[in-house]
Amino acid sequence: MNMKQLAAEKAVEYVEDGMRIGLGTGSTAYWAIRKIGERVRAGLNIQAVATSKASEKLAQEEGIPLVPFDQIAGLDLTIDGADELDRELHLIKGGGGALLREKIVAYHSKELIIIADESKFVDKLGSFPLPVEIVPFANEWTMEALEKLGAKPMLRTDGERLFITDNGNYIADCRFGVIEHPAELHAQLLALPGVVDNGLFIGLAARAVIGHQDGTVTVMT
Ligand code: 5RP
Repeated sequence: MNMKQLAAEKAVEYVEDGMRIGLGTGSTAYWAIRKIGERVRAGLNIQAVATSKASEKLAQEEGIPLVPFDQIAGLDLTIDGADELDRELHLIKGGGGALLREKIVAYHSKELIIIADESKFVDKLGSFPLPVEIVPFANEWTMEALEKLGAKPMLRTDGERLFITDNGNYIADCRFGVIEHPAELHAQLLALPGVVDNGLFIGLAARAVIGHQDGTVTVMT
């Protein structure tokens, strides 16, 4: 079993009958959705929402009952991946471009469990370029404003065309170097017109389940 699958399957043990569950996005969340699907087919009774069109499709294929947001008042637990996490469970997310939906869903969950392989755990955030979701309108000016904040921003592409999020926006991948003060940077980014949100998740994760090369799993709180 690979490290991502190990972490994901351990985290799915926290899912209990009757819970309302947020389904994350990415190659680690994939394993969690697969495992939840297996448990649903074995009789687990849950309701779920997805953080991306890709995860919604996978959940449907797995037979996981998805409910519209207006028919569910918040969530008990969300299980999602991360691109980087530190000791305080500050995160960089958005490598898959789903950061906005992921943050909305995490905010409305009683608990967010992060699942990751050991390579995602860092001393300080910032090696992974911070994804910032920006609106297409005047994006050139928003990119300049990001540079003034100290970033080296690059609009994400799929090789040829600009990457468009599920919300119709662009992602600016921003190299800030080591992020010494994540909460401050988060606030500065949110204050920029044109920025919808950014991949810094501060104070949202309660637990991280990390899969290791040697086949063990550790849980951080
Ligand atoms: C998507 C995300 C993912 O959780 C993050 O990119 C980690 O992905 P993976 O599990 O594939 O490494 O934030 O927006």
